[in-house]
Amino acid sequence: MQSLPQLEVLFDSTGKGLGLPAPLSRAYGGDLGLAGDCLVANFVESVDGVVAFPDAAGESGAVVSGGSAPDRFLMGLLRACADAVLIGAGTLRAAPGDLWFPESIFPAAASLYQQARRALGLTERPRLYVVSGSGRVDPGHPALRDGVVLKGKLEPGEILAALRRDGHRRILCEGGPGLFAELLAARLVDEIFLTLSPRLFGRWAGDARKALTEGRDLAGARLELVSLRRHQSHLFLRYRCG
Ligand SMILES: NC(=O)c1ccc[n+]([C@@H]2O[C@H](COP(=O)([O-])OP(=O)(O)OC[C@H]3O[C@@H](n4cnc5c(N)ncnc54)[C@H](OP(=O)(O)O)[C@@H]3O)[C@@H](O)[C@H]2O)c1
Repeated sequence: MQSLPQLEVLFDSTGKGLGLPAPLSRAYGGDLGLAGDCLVANFVESVDGVVAFPDAAGESGAVVSGGSAPDRFLMGLLRACADAVLIGAGTLRAAPGDLWFPESIFPAAASLYQQARRALGLTERPRLYVVSGSGRVDPGHPALRDGVVLKGKLEPGEILAALRRDGHRRILCEGGPGLFAELLAARLVDEIFLTLSPRLFGRWAGDARKALTEGRDLAGARLELVSLRRHQSHLFLRYRCG
């Protein structure tokens, strides 16, 4: 069985944690310290800022991170602590077989993620929400067996309100760059967990590759670094949004 990775803590000002099972907090290097009601995002980007490829055979994050086990561990941990996971239809369409469950991305910690959910008083798994202006999503996608599709163009505040109406407090947005930029522009994102992968991919005119945010002018919005972890040459940054 794959063991848990060990993240090295370089800096952490986030304070009190959630009470995670000890093996998870040892591996992460502390507790997560997420607020009760929050919208946090999680992405991996290359050093030159590439987040998505139009021609990836599946979800781009795995290509960007190089399949990094610590990155997958952290994704699973964030999912394990979330009431709901929110994605755009582009991210769903890019990953036709994926499930957005904690154990799907890091199976070795499945039982620990379950323990964490029980300790937090959460349901067995976070509910997936997909927003789609066009409504063009495959109803046979395995993630939609229990997932919810919010169809039609919605204001970012309406998206958040729909999840809150369903009783979800800790919401994890897993992209993609289009939806994320909209939520940021509406100042709805509380924190960003950003993995910086030690890779360079390059950009060129018309490449259709995507950066962390796309389609919105964010006007130099300020972020505060609240923690920094390391595993070999991968950096795990956590920012609070202003
Ligand atoms: N590296 C990473 O960490 C990471 C993370 C996540 C995703 N990705 C990659 O990012 C790419 C997808 O990103 P993307 O920017 O193209 O797509 P996206 O943000 O996942 O989805 C955009 C789509 O979401 C829907 N949408 C967005 N805002 C909406 C709103 N206000 N109301 C209703 N629907 C709304 C629309 O769906 P319709 O088109 O149906 O109208 C829109 O086209 C994929 O390649 C994925 O693998 C990478």
